[in-house]
Amino acid sequence: MPNPISGFSKLSKSEKIDWIVSTYFSNKEDAKSLVTQYWNTDKKLQKLHDEFIENTITNYYLPLGVAPNFLINNRLYTIPMAIEESSVVAAASKAAKFWLDRGGFKTEVIATEKIGQVHFMYEGNYKELETFFNVVKPKLISEAAHLTKNMERRGGGIRAIALINKTKDLENYYQLHATFETLDAMGANFINSCLEQFAQTFEREAKNTLENNIDIVMSILSNYVPNCLVRAEVSCPISELKSKDIKHPEVFAQKFKQAINIAEIEPYRAVTHNKGIMNGIDAVVLATGNDFRAVEAGVHAYASRNDSYASLTHCTIEDDIFKFWIEIPLALGTVGGLTNLHPLVKFCLELLENPSARELMQIVAVAGLAQNFAAVKSLTTTGIQEGHMKMHLMNILNQFEATAEEKLKLVDHFKTNSVTHSAVVAAIKHLRS
Ligand code: MEV
Repeated sequence: MPNPISGFSKLSKSEKIDWIVSTYFSNKEDAKSLVTQYWNTDKKLQKLHDEFIENTITNYYLPLGVAPNFLINNRLYTIPMAIEESSVVAAASKAAKFWLDRGGFKTEVIATEKIGQVHFMYEGNYKELETFFNVVKPKLISEAAHLTKNMERRGGGIRAIALINKTKDLENYYQLHATFETLDAMGANFINSCLEQFAQTFEREAKNTLENNIDIVMSILSNYVPNCLVRAEVSCPISELKSKDIKHPEVFAQKFKQAINIAEIEPYRAVTHNKGIMNGIDAVVLATGNDFRAVEAGVHAYASRNDSYASLTHCTIEDDIFKFWIEIPLALGTVGGLTNLHPLVKFCLELLENPSARELMQIVAVAGLAQNFAAVKSLTTTGIQEGHMKMHLMNILNQFEATAEEKLKLVDHFKTNSVTHSAVVAAIKHLRS
């Protein structure tokens, strides 16, 4: 076991790498050369990446792919996706093309409200606290004016502050529950700064007014944003579902709907179903420099809002019309954070024609819906492995360090043979024998 190290963050990048390789790696030269091989030769660009976090030693690549042909509200998009999973971009592109010929995706932003809370304890009388809150509320807002004036000028800002009594759930526990409109910013810094200002004003004024002091526990935004909601939908007459892979559209539509109904009531299936949706969502969220952990946390909480964890997508068949839609909370930004800093994020936003946060919400929701359509379509027809393994073929070939010529031959071979790990290994061996 290595000895603990103090002052690690103060070491230079090379010293950090030297310490890591000499402490943990048997082949120190190889480990060091691998890490440095991923440095960008453009020193300025590398420095930018070094400074995103602490203790950067190198860069960690993910592929950035694009899925073209997304028709969203009659506007055509090519959607950038940063993801490592082989089949995701191919599946998104296929779904985009499928719906391009059937009217495309229709989307709507339902609401854009963000939430933040000051959590505090108070042992005194509730009525007294309530009266104090009503008196101090204008001051909470006015003392945050230096933080809110720019946002307000653009039409955003604090929308409401409420006092919430949570003492039934936890002794002496109350909240200031605030709602915000943060326009094109994700708004985390704005909200957290406002909340810390509310807490300061509230605590100070309480000392001068209330018999019992209040004790601030913490002030922080919530990543649960059920009122920052977007909807995306596709629909068409059942007969129009007919395509190369869908020979019997009526049978397909019914089975597809059953699969969605299962995910609506069965949590084990719903988690995997929603994971497939997040394949699309996270990839675009990441490519556009947004916080995918915040999105994930909020989305899964939303999926559990009615007692049990359930599907985020829904399907109906009415009057011969197949309709499939998603409703999902997405707190996204197209200004601030990484969006102005990371050159590839800027590139991805320009590729999307510099969307507003509302537009990005719609694009991301579409990516999730398209991904889910592709997954459920495969699951209920050919099974998922056919497409997955076709895309995974290249990973297996790379594992065996196949040459360009071998790849050409084997990709051709597996156009007409099913891909399994053992079949690929056997084919490589056969080719090399
Ligand atoms: C794999 O990453 C995602 C799927 O499992 C999603 C699903 O089952 O719906 C294919």
